[in-house]
Amino acid sequence: MSEVGAEERLWNLVRGALATRSLAIAAELGVPDALSGGPQPVADLARESSADADALRRVLRALASEGVFIEHAPGVFGNTDASELLRAGSGWGEFAVLFGGVWLRTVAELDASGDPAFPRMYGTDFWSWLAQHPDDRARFDLAMGQGSEARIERLNAIAWRGDETIVDVGGGNGSLLAEFLKVQPGMRGIVFDLPETVRDESIFGDRLEFVGGSFFERVPTGDAYLLATILHDWDDETAASILRTIRAAAPPEARLVILDAVVPPGNEPFGPKWLDLLMLALLAGRERDEAQWRALLDAGGFKPVRFGERLIEARCRS
Ligand SMILES: C[S@@+](CC[C@H](N)C(=O)[O-])C[C@H]1O[C@@H](n2cnc3c(N)ncnc32)[C@H](O)[C@@H]1O
Repeated sequence: MSEVGAEERLWNLVRGALATRSLAIAAELGVPDALSGGPQPVADLARESSADADALRRVLRALASEGVFIEHAPGVFGNTDASELLRAGSGWGEFAVLFGGVWLRTVAELDASGDPAFPRMYGTDFWSWLAQHPDDRARFDLAMGQGSEARIERLNAIAWRGDETIVDVGGGNGSLLAEFLKVQPGMRGIVFDLPETVRDESIFGDRLEFVGGSFFERVPTGDAYLLATILHDWDDETAASILRTIRAAAPPEARLVILDAVVPPGNEPFGPKWLDLLMLALLAGRERDEAQWRALLDAGGFKPVRFGERLIEARCRS
């Protein structure tokens, strides 16, 4: 395996914002969808999206150098597996637009003061801002769906009884729980989130319901509670208060499943080490290591029973 030199290593990091923004431009202009039927000249893509052909070619050429799009002939671009994932509605396209838009602007103001940049810039917290921007709320709810296959695999590895009612606390538009219930036909589900989430109501029915509310006030009663990328959004004190709300509603034998990262020690690459900084910029949230998770669970009234790399199981502490 070839060693990356010191200068190349720095260059690959320093240019990161350009890649982030380029992905957003391509997704915003609908290029991945336009190429779904086959390669097209950039002049046609530019005409369809009212973009400048030269600027768009340069954006696509840079992305193609990383395997997102491919330039088949000069000025003729096609999709790759990676750019195909960016098609609208897939979750990745919406994720790219958020990352290269409102999040990139926020990250530009990230500093080491420990205070989140978002409220400083927008005068409100991220969730209230989303409530005021329904298009971004819808984009966010779709974006959270990316990576759901791996998350369902993790959930399936748990020794379920098979007839539980699962409450997905902060379950967004409900897509994760809806998919999970397909492979667990004896279970029922409750998606609990802020009322303004943008949902496809057709996924709700006999076995799955949506309950609107705030997890700082109350959550529904169930046999198991799922917290999927929720606690990393909040500082320790606030995260503990979410756990305490669940603890107050949970029967003593309830199971708590947390889908969040457990940051390992050492210098190995691990995506959540970067996501941690987005949490810091947006929300004053954080990714946690095992010791931090143990302390948080204890403060919230739970005891851990299993730590995976991206899944924690816990039970009510007596
Ligand atoms: C990072 S998203 C995770 C969504 C979903 N669990 C997933 O993993 O796809 C965090 C979720 O917490 C919800 N949320 C934020 N504040 C909340 C509150 N006070 N009560 C209930 N849900 C809240 C947001 O609306 C959002 O859907």
